[in-house]
Amino acid sequence: MAKQKSVFVCQECGNESAKWMGQCPACKQWNTFVEEVKIKTKNVHTNNDIDIKNKPKKLSCIEMNEEERVSTKISELDRVLGGGIVKGSLTLVGGDPGIGKSTLLLQMCQYLCGQDIDVLYISGEESLQQIKMRADRLEVNGERLTLYTETNLSLCIKAIKELQPRVVIVDSIQTIFSDDITSAAGSVSQVREVTSSLMKVAKGLGVSTFIVGHVTKEGAIAGPRVLEHMVDTVLYFEGVRSASYRVLRAVKNRFGSTNEIGVFEMRDKGLEEVPNPSEYMLTGRPLNSPGSIVTCCMEGTRPMLVEVQALMSPTNFGMPRRTATGTDYNRVVLLMAVLEKKIGMQLASYDSYVNIAGGLKITEPSLDLGIVCAIASSFKNIPVDSKTVIMGEVGLTGEVRGITMAEKRILESKKLGFKKCIISKANIKNLNIDGIEILGVENVSQALNYIF
Ligand code: TYD
Ligand code: MG
Repeated sequence: MAKQKSVFVCQECGNESAKWMGQCPACKQWNTFVEEVKIKTKNVHTNNDIDIKNKPKKLSCIEMNEEERVSTKISELDRVLGGGIVKGSLTLVGGDPGIGKSTLLLQMCQYLCGQDIDVLYISGEESLQQIKMRADRLEVNGERLTLYTETNLSLCIKAIKELQPRVVIVDSIQTIFSDDITSAAGSVSQVREVTSSLMKVAKGLGVSTFIVGHVTKEGAIAGPRVLEHMVDTVLYFEGVRSASYRVLRAVKNRFGSTNEIGVFEMRDKGLEEVPNPSEYMLTGRPLNSPGSIVTCCMEGTRPMLVEVQALMSPTNFGMPRRTATGTDYNRVVLLMAVLEKKIGMQLASYDSYVNIAGGLKITEPSLDLGIVCAIASSFKNIPVDSKTVIMGEVGLTGEVRGITMAEKRILESKKLGFKKCIISKANIKNLNIDGIEILGVENVSQALNYIF
């Protein structure tokens, strides 16, 4: 007989407990425990009906085919995936509702169908008409695209087995439910069960599967974070909904490098690639205004120029305010301490606001010198030359240290018309780039002497 077991599961992190608790001991969130009744039968987790031809194999006996990866023909997406869609891979695409996950995947379908690849799009969120309307708007008309609006897992798996497509898209994981579990669709145990079943199908049949998952702050629906360890690749689609650009970021990738990003812009005809994000990030930059400088950070293998802004204003209270948007707060406080102690700037009576323009989040150390110069520029109320790019890591004694991939960063700056580059002296050895003046500095005070 089936054994009934009831557990309390944190909807935020998936922590399980035998009794209800107000606060989750694992993730410290409040009111996240929900009772879920599990029916444990012997074969819930063994999908015997899936035909998996799997045997232990010697490494040397494993054959590699060239076409194991399929290009999506969206080069920004390919880059984030590590070069294309891997056969039998399971990819989770997470992001806030309304950010454009369905749009991106539907556009991907168009290109896949163009390469004679069968795609099955399972939607539990929208009706066939709604998807068709969106497809018309995006001018997607793949003959090989099959739509299926279903939320029952076993029916979805049946359809996958019948149609045998190369690529399956499940939109979204929170709407699909398994009959074996009594808790509501979208709860942690449902989401886990559905994902593990889909994974077995993906690996067994060699179907590349994309799973859409919404992230919600309140944790009303189980976040896809509990799935991250199960899937091969985790992509997050980020961006401010009001602004038109979107950043697709690989958080985990078994088939490529993480930290690669793809930049898109949401237009009325869907998402468009932004092949040159540096240019995009710098549009609308105020020229010759104090507190604004340009630095170059690396996003994966790609250099990207970003604007760092700082605003120093006299404080009205005893305690000055310090905020950092888009970068690490503690790092900013540390850099301000370096400026106070080593340069002698009296920042204690100033509120300070540091911002990375464009809504990016950067924690790379090469940003340090940029932040220092932006703060100094706003403090002195002297603008920095708008054709100068500043990069370097700042140490606690005020020294400027070398950074990685300096050449790539300088070339990118040169490409965008920058004339001067301030960088650590350690980096300028063996550098041979003309067309841009490279100034090597040893410490913060030298860098400040160059710019003011
Ligand atoms: P959608 O892909 O439905 O988001 P998600 O699946 O992540 O929830 O994207 C919906 C948003 O995108 C919606 O706010 C409208 C906008 N959008 C456009 O601006 N242009 C378009 O061509 C499309 C299809 C959507
Ligand atoms: Mg959607």
